[in-house]
Amino acid sequence: MINTPSLNVEFAGLNLRNPTMLASGFMGINQDNFDRIYKSGAGCLVSKSLSIRPIEGYYNPTVVALNGKSYINAVGLANPGFEAFAAEIVDNTTPLIVSLVGSCQSDFIPMVKRLDRLHILGYEINLSCPHVKKMGIEVGDDLEMVRAIIRTVRRNTKKPIFIKLGVGNVDVLKLATIAKEEAANGVTAINTIRAMTIDLQTYSPVLSNKIGGLSGRSLKPVAVRSVYEISMKIGIPVIGCGGIFTWEDAVEFLLAGASAVQIGSGIGTIGINIFHLISRGIRKYLENKGFGNVQDIVGMAQKY
Ligand SMILES: Cc1cc2nc3c(=O)[nH]c(=O)nc-3n(C[C@H](O)[C@H](O)[C@H](O)COP(=O)(O)O)c2cc1C
Repeated sequence: MINTPSLNVEFAGLNLRNPTMLASGFMGINQDNFDRIYKSGAGCLVSKSLSIRPIEGYYNPTVVALNGKSYINAVGLANPGFEAFAAEIVDNTTPLIVSLVGSCQSDFIPMVKRLDRLHILGYEINLSCPHVKKMGIEVGDDLEMVRAIIRTVRRNTKKPIFIKLGVGNVDVLKLATIAKEEAANGVTAINTIRAMTIDLQTYSPVLSNKIGGLSGRSLKPVAVRSVYEISMKIGIPVIGCGGIFTWEDAVEFLLAGASAVQIGSGIGTIGINIFHLISRGIRKYLENKGFGNVQDIVGMAQKY
C-alpha cells in the first residue's frame, strides 16, 4: 500500500499542517477572514503589517493590474494600529503570525509586549515595504537600524520571528546575515519591488503615490533567486513569496530552498480556494515522484 505523502512542515519553531501561508496585506486585518482562509486550507496566516498608530494610507488608485497576473500597489500601509488589531484577534484560534512595521526599534516594544499575550504563533517584521517614507525598505536599507530592530524584538519575545526582506539598495544576503546573527528564526523573501506605470492618455503616473511595489507573476524569478541564494549561502530558514499562483510555482520555491510559501496576489485571481488547490497539487507531485514528505524536496535544486 502506498502512503499518502505528508504536507506537514516543521521549521524555525513552527509546526504547520501544510506549507501554504497567507501573505501579509491580503484580507489580513479581520478575524472572520482569518477563520475563513484557515478553513479553506491555508497552513498558516500572516496579518497585514500593524504599526504603533493607525495609518490611513494613500488615496485611490492604490492598486493597478498589469498584463499577465502582475500588479503594482501603493496602499501606504493602511492599518488600524496594533491596539485595535489586538482587540480584533482576542479570541483567535488560527495559526496566525502578526506582521509589524515601524520606523525605529522603540516602536516595536509596546507592540510585541501587548501582542505576546495573545494566541499567536509569532511575528513577521516588515523591513521592506517599498513605498512608505521612514518605514519598510527605507528602514531595511539602514543596516544598523535593521540590527537594532531585530535585536529589540528578539529581547522582547520568545516566539518565532521572521524578517520580511525586499530587494532594495542593500543585498538581501547582507540583510539575511544580520537576521541570522541577531537570532531571528527565519526570513521571508520577498516583498514587492519598487515599480511604476504611466497612463498614455493622461500622461500621468497611474497610482496616486506614483511609485508602488510590483507583485505577482513578474516578481517570481527574482523571488526564487533570492530564496535560493539566502537558503544556500546563509543557511537560515526561508519562507518564499512572490508570484505563486499554482502548485508548480510553489514546488519551484520549495526546490529552491523555501520551507514554506506565502500567497498574496494569487488570491486576487483564483480566490481563497488557492491554498487547497496548491496543497493538493503539491501532494500529487510528491506522490508521482515517490516522496513521503514535502520536507524531502526542500532545497533539492541546491545540489546542482
Ligand atoms: C495590496 C498589497 C498590500 C500589501 N501589504 C503588505 C504589508 O502590509 N506588509 C508586508 O510585509 N507585505 C505586504 N505586501 C507584500 C506581499 O505580502 C507580498 O510580499 C508580495 O505581494 C509578493 O507576493 P505575491 O506576488 O504573492 O503577491 C502587500 C502586497 C500587496 C499587493
